[in-house]
Order: sequence, then C-alpha cells, then structure tokens
Amino acid sequence: METRIEKITESSLAEAQRILRGGGVVAFPTETVYGLAADARRDDAVRLIYAVKGRPSDNPLIVHVHRDFDLSSLVIDDMPYAKKLRDAFLPGPLTLVYKSRGTVSSVVSCGLDTLAVRVPSHEGAQAFLKYVDMPLAAPSANLSKHVSPVSAEHVYADLHGRIPLILDGGECSGGIESTVCDVTGPIPVVLREGLVSREMIASVAGDCACYIPKEGEPVRSPGMKYKHYAPVCRTVLFAPEERREALAYFMACSAKGERALVLCENDAAESFPADKVLDMGRTPEEMAARLYALLREGERRADVIIALKPRGSGGVLSGVLNRLCKACAGEEK
Ligand code: TXA
Ligand code: MG
Repeated sequence: METRIEKITESSLAEAQRILRGGGVVAFPTETVYGLAADARRDDAVRLIYAVKGRPSDNPLIVHVHRDFDLSSLVIDDMPYAKKLRDAFLPGPLTLVYKSRGTVSSVVSCGLDTLAVRVPSHEGAQAFLKYVDMPLAAPSANLSKHVSPVSAEHVYADLHGRIPLILDGGECSGGIESTVCDVTGPIPVVLREGLVSREMIASVAGDCACYIPKEGEPVRSPGMKYKHYAPVCRTVLFAPEERREALAYFMACSAKGERALVLCENDAAESFPADKVLDMGRTPEEMAARLYALLREGERRADVIIALKPRGSGGVLSGVLNRLCKACAGEEK
C-alpha cells in the first residue's frame, strides 16, 4: 500500500473521510503526538488500528471528538468537577475517562465499562474532526512499544506501507501524550501524567489523586503495564546526581567503539562533549516538546543513549520523567 503525506486541505480532508467511511485508518496531528484514527463506532475499523500498530488487544483506546460534539451521546457525566475540568482545560491535552454509554464499538475500551474521551486543541485536528463529524478512536500513530511520533515523518517511518494517508500538521508542540484522568469517582484520579499536571487538576477540582498500581491488582489503565515509548537502540538511565557516573559510562562506551549520545537537560550539557549531547532544553514544557524527537534522533545516530534524568519533580516534569523512565525501562541505574 502506498502511504501519502498530505497537508490539511479541503481535498485531503475529503480523502480522509472517504477512507474512514470505508472502515480504514488515517494518521492525523494533535498538539501532543500524532494519532491513528478510525471510526469508533465500527468494530472492524477499530480492530484495524490494533492490527496496524501491533497493539496488545487489552489496551483500550481514546475517542477523539471536536469541541462541539455532544459528549452525552458517548458517556455518562455525573461528577460536577468534570465540567470544571473541561471548562478549564479543553480543548487541550487532557483525556477524561467516564462511564461509557456503550454507543461506540466495545473494541475501543476492550470491554471495560468506561470510555476515554479527548478534545484536542490542535487546529488541524479540530478541522479534521469537524469535517468527518464522527467519534474517532485513536492511539498514538507509532508501532506498538516504539517512541510516539511528533511529526508526519515519524509516522511515515513507523507505518509506511500499512496506512494510506498521513495528514501533515507540522511538528506537535506538546510532545508527550495527553494526561489521562479518571472522572468516575468522588475525586479525579490521574492514570497517566502529561502536560495538564496533577497540581493543575487539583487546583480546579479541589483535589486529585495519582493512581499507583498495586502488586497483584488488575491495572486501571491497562496501557501502564506495557513497556512503552522505547527507542530501538540500547538506553541507560542515570539519576540527576550521577553526572560523573554517566560521563564515565559514556567514556567506556566510546572506548569500546560504541556510538554513544547523552540525553540531558541543558544545564548538564557542559559536562559532555558538545557534539554528543541531545539537549532537552531548560523548562519541563521544552523537555516534553523535544523528548520524543531526540529519542528518535538518538536511535538513528547511536548504539546507546545515555540518559541523565533532569533535576526536580512534580508538575509537568512528572510526565517528562515518566516517559523518560519508560523509554529506558529495564536499564534504570
Ligand atoms: O495525547 C494522546 O493521548 C494521544 C493522541 C493521539 O491523542 N493518544 C494516545 O493514545 O496516547 P494511546 O492509545 O497511545 O494511549 C491511551 C492511554 C493508554 O494508556 C490506555 O490504557 C488509556 O489511555 N486508556 C484508554 N481508555 C481507557 C479507559 N477506558 N480506562 C483507563 N485507561 C484508558
Ligand atoms: Mg501510545
């Protein structure tokens, strides 16, 4: 199958609509990462998403809708604080998990009685959702377990030959996947951290918990149990205070003839050879925006990415640290 990359225009949107009406999949930009969309009401279309990505069939999908879509047709929204969260943060990088009305395919939520809904703020995403005017199930548009794509070229690298069309909306400004927050209980519970931080949610809803899976319990957000976001090359993770150890590791790799690159915040960059640094920048937002492009650059240029965690905690940095740790899963030092 030929995979075309098209700017978002009247004619590419019409083409996207034709594909979706035929039960196919289309990649599209959002402010976080690129998504791979299918008609959420069709079992066959939603199954195709899982097949194209190689995604485990027990990891549920997020349904994307435009800003004027009637939410009550999809979910039961009975928590007053959920409206406050929508008013404060939507459209934007916050996905809310509600009780489902069961109007979309049961394949979307893998048989769960909840449904995750997201209203992206990206102008191109809104234009696309408005044009097709259907609820679209969409995970990130990467091969399962690889780094999420933040440009049309990243989607092409992973999925060319498997999908017919990528709508190109440029580079994603946010850079890490949306915050996923359960709004079915008395207080909101963050299931996946992102650009809308737990602190921001608490400031609007009055309270907010962060879900930590307990040993032996079924996980509430099935995606959390999988290794995610990983580059194809080796990755090694160091704590912020282990800068010297990271340098020693870098030297040892180089001495063995391995191509090594160091992923670190701007403040730590001076400790490493300038041409071997993947610079994450200074602010948590900057780090989120650059992280996935740098991981993809790293896997292209290096045999090993040596990642030094940025200093600090909380807020947006929690989401950045979560993705960085997952990318380097299994090799945390
Ligand atoms: O920013 C984003 O959220 C991107 C863009 C494309 O919108 N999408 C994305 O989708 O990251 P995906 O499939 O890669 O991640 C969806 C996450 C998974 O961790 C999944 O387990 C969780 O949302 N999820 C989906 N439905 C759920 C539900 N009903 N209950 C709990 N967690 C759910
Ligand atoms: Mg994903």
